[in-house]
Amino acid sequence: MGMSLGPADYARSLWRIVRGKPNVPPSLRDNALLRVLMRRRSVRSYSERPVPDDVFAAILEAGRLAPSTVNLQTWSFATFTAESWRETFDSPLPFHGQRAVLVMGDTHRARAVADAFPESPLVEYTVAVMNASLAAMAMNMAAEALDVSSVMLSETGRSGFLDAGYLKERLALPDGVIPLMTIIFGYAKGAYPPMPPKLPLDQICFDSARYREVDPAVMADWLAQMIAGYKASHLFSSFDAQLKVYQAKIDQAEADLRRMVLK
Ligand SMILES: Cc1cc2nc3c(=O)[nH]c(=O)nc-3n(C[C@H](O)[C@H](O)[C@H](O)COP(=O)(O)O)c2cc1C
Repeated sequence: MGMSLGPADYARSLWRIVRGKPNVPPSLRDNALLRVLMRRRSVRSYSERPVPDDVFAAILEAGRLAPSTVNLQTWSFATFTAESWRETFDSPLPFHGQRAVLVMGDTHRARAVADAFPESPLVEYTVAVMNASLAAMAMNMAAEALDVSSVMLSETGRSGFLDAGYLKERLALPDGVIPLMTIIFGYAKGAYPPMPPKLPLDQICFDSARYREVDPAVMADWLAQMIAGYKASHLFSSFDAQLKVYQAKIDQAEADLRRMVLK
């Protein structure tokens, strides 16, 4: 993939990012939950202001009450303060976050009382990932509603499924418990970043019985914005380089997951 842009395309793409706005009908713009959903951004810089215990408890409660397949609640949450993260991983919480929740897909707990998916490891794994991800999003949104910002991580700082093998060992996780992501929480330092380029609804949504194939021009435009946005926020890296960082870890993650899920 040729992943570089000329100066004109770079400027045009940055302009489009800065102009990007959620698309909500004016009559609904005051809805409290919609406002929270539209405002949310992945935040990667936090102030030193601590997240109070009762606020963090409310965030966890939103995760506990999330929907799940047959109400199996196939998740576990490991909670951290900045101190306990440092003690556990010998490195600071990414982005100076104040709290973290490692979200795991957990088929171990329910299996103690019911064998819901005998002989179906991929179904069991997928169900656990779906449910735990919903709990994660519920926590993320509860935080946003309480003015606490967050970012989900699968990679940075030994935090998620790309480090699942390491985390399984480090946290002595039983079989059937699979690290998926860490959510970092804290009060944002400074303004929120602009909305990264989201695909238009007509590319991701089709109302007929036939899948809608991508429009290459729309995808090229999106990719140009991704490249430009990455370049603007990471002077010494690129979107291409970022994908390679992931690729370098993915072989290991694939082997770890095979070991954990398909053994
Ligand atoms: C499951 C998941 C894993 C993610 N992992 C990382 C990560 O490892 N590092 C990171 O900086 N952002 C990570 N993100 C944040 C995404 O980069 C971010 O959601 C995306 O760029 C869209 O931006 P927005 O959340 O502000 O809409 C992750 C998001 C999700 C949902």
